[in-house]
Amino acid sequence: MHSGLIAALAATLLVAACGGGNDNGQAASAPAASAPAPASGTAPTLSLAAQVGEKMFFDKTLSGSGKLACASCHSPDFAYGPPNNLVVQLGGLDNNSPGVRTVPSLRYKEFTPPYSDLLDNPDGVTPPGPGGGYTWDGRAATLASQAPIPLLTSYEMANSGPAAVVNALKAGPYAALFKQAFGTDALNDTDKAFNFALSALQSYQQEDPDFHPYTSKFDLLRTNRGNYMTAQELRGLAVFNDENKGNCIACHLSGNAQGGSVAPFTDYSFEAVAPPRNPAIPANADPAHFDMGLCQATETGHSPATTPQYCGMYKTPTLRNAATRQVFFHNGAFRTLRDVVEFYNKRDTNPELFYSKAADNSVNIYDDLPAPYRSNVDMTVPVVHTRGAAPAMSEQDVDDLVAFLGTLTDGFQPPQK
Ligand code: HEC
Ligand code: HEC
Repeated sequence: MHSGLIAALAATLLVAACGGGNDNGQAASAPAASAPAPASGTAPTLSLAAQVGEKMFFDKTLSGSGKLACASCHSPDFAYGPPNNLVVQLGGLDNNSPGVRTVPSLRYKEFTPPYSDLLDNPDGVTPPGPGGGYTWDGRAATLASQAPIPLLTSYEMANSGPAAVVNALKAGPYAALFKQAFGTDALNDTDKAFNFALSALQSYQQEDPDFHPYTSKFDLLRTNRGNYMTAQELRGLAVFNDENKGNCIACHLSGNAQGGSVAPFTDYSFEAVAPPRNPAIPANADPAHFDMGLCQATETGHSPATTPQYCGMYKTPTLRNAATRQVFFHNGAFRTLRDVVEFYNKRDTNPELFYSKAADNSVNIYDDLPAPYRSNVDMTVPVVHTRGAAPAMSEQDVDDLVAFLGTLTDGFQPPQK
């Protein structure tokens, strides 16, 4: 039993060491890294800009309906992910218009490099490939340039334009703070004021330690502050790292990564994992509608015609705090972590468990992608691809892996001695 523990620890350290060899050439924007870590228990001092951003984040008057704030979809109580089990959240002027994708957590995003077709892979082994950027398809380069998306999208906060946002800021209770942060005339010019507002949201997400607390049980182990892992969780860590079992680490990196980040549980790469089509997304009522991920992100220069090889790819999300989520993958195809792991394990060995049936009763494998793009589906996961073969993980491995994923939830309190 002890040798298992040592093997698991060694695997973690080994991975950290591998990542260290990379020169992190694309360390574009990692402002949070230089901020001194506040002593625990002390409230950090946010810059004035970040204080404005914090007010904005919780401000429902910044939506067309007056009922929706950033925090409505990105709840601080759920690692800044969705506070409910809805596959897509409701927004818009009527506050009843469905979105098209699940809400990602906003934690551990500050090291995300801008999107690149040839992002260096921090593992030092994988050749450069598509990676980086904000949203599931990488179409925003920075947190500031992401913010107009929710503010202006008709089924999200549904402002008619920047002027509507600026007017709300002018009328709101923190207009004085806004001017203190950005200058006495900061709200006079709409375009300038809107840009200040976007940078305020960015500063808040970068500066407030609650967006990157590193307080999980796994972090205590990783930083030598105590091993509170159970035997099952450690077995799960070994499954996570084992290239013949979970091989999760191939994308959900637990070592050093871009921009000096450590253990982000993503390498920001894009992959087509092919979660099954989810009829609970209203847009999917149209059989001709497909969310094609990276290849439809015109902002990054992609389209199905020019880059068909990217259709179906999404950015690898962090697994930190995944256990606090009630919907998984970009399309919310699964509702529990165990179902996600079962899917990885049996996607190709038992596709009938997950995918719809075609007219002739055959399994419509990878059914959330049009047939021409199904060859884009990643074959790193799951490990076994032969129909009917034994999957790579036993049921025990699956349970252990799920237990391990639970150790990535922030706010772990070591038992008092
Ligand atoms: C109606 C729900 C909703 C609201 C309100 C909302 N978001 Fe989001 N947010 C989403 C969804 C859905 C996505 C994923 C969009 C996509 O991939 O196309 C997302 C993605 C993001 C991302 C990218 C995260 C990543 O993993 O790349 C950031 C950052 C973000 N939102 C910040 C904000 C901010 C700041 C606000 C307020 C100005 C806000 N959001 C308001 C639903 C919402
Ligand atoms: C080849 C890269 C790759 C490997 C290997 C991989 N994943 Fe993923 N993972 C992704 C991508 C990409 C997504 C998003 C896919 C989507 O939404 O369509 C994802 C999504 C997830 C999610 C959903 C998270 C969320 O916020 O919705 C979980 C949980 C997850 N992976 C766990 C695992 C586990 C456990 C393993 C190992 C058994 C694993 N992954 C192996 C790339 C990978």
